[in-house]
Amino acid sequence: MHYDCINGSHGLPHDPFKAIVAPRPIGWIGSKGKSGIQNLAPYSYFNAVADKPHFIMFSSVGIKDSVKNSEETGVFTFSLATEKLFDAMNGSSVQAAYNVDEFKLTNLAYSQGKYVDAPYVKDSPAALECKYWKTIDMPGANRSKGTGTYVILGQVVGIFINDSFIKEGLFDASEARPLVRLGYMNYGVVGKENTFTKNRPQLDKEGNLMEINEWDGKYR
Ligand SMILES: Cc1cc2nc3c(=O)[nH]c(=O)nc-3n(C[C@H](O)[C@H](O)[C@H](O)COP(=O)(O)O)c2cc1C
Repeated sequence: MHYDCINGSHGLPHDPFKAIVAPRPIGWIGSKGKSGIQNLAPYSYFNAVADKPHFIMFSSVGIKDSVKNSEETGVFTFSLATEKLFDAMNGSSVQAAYNVDEFKLTNLAYSQGKYVDAPYVKDSPAALECKYWKTIDMPGANRSKGTGTYVILGQVVGIFINDSFIKEGLFDASEARPLVRLGYMNYGVVGKENTFTKNRPQLDKEGNLMEINEWDGKYR
């Protein structure tokens, strides 16, 4: 199949878009309203978008509590959602009134950020503390007026890592076993069984690609 996704239709029972852009990391966003009510919710329209300084984004269909709080207080956190934390992550996605604290609802312990006044998941192997930067009101088709999707961008100003996940100086992501979002209601887990290490290639004198070796500790 090959279809026009603006004027045409996929004709399938569900839009395959998110199953194609997969896996997506899960942005487990912690925030706090002006009133002090804490909030936690997963966002799979989420990613790291810049280094030096680090920036991350999440995208909300409608002005959800995480958006409202981040804009109101200027801060939010990201906690790494892992296989062990699946039930709490899923539980925190429940549609609940603004005054519901999803940390309490899902029996999750929290820590207050060291650099920003927002909570993160205490038992998560890693968390990012962020300062809200801006909201992008995403346009509709052909750049027409926005359709109610908001991208929030934040600068990472502090990073928490549970030291037991640092092995020989590296954050051991496959030991942390992060959850990833696939399409539909499907998930995956990143672990040792499905990860590998390869260095980037170099060109030899003749301009041909040289054999790729195991990582020697140098970034190329
Ligand atoms: C794994 C997962 C990923 C999700 N990703 C998104 C997303 O990218 N954007 C969005 O608007 N909602 C997403 N949701 C739904 C929100 O988590 C849900 O609407 C939640 O109630 C929002 O909470 P809040 O209003 O406290 O921010 C996702 C749910 C799950 C379970």
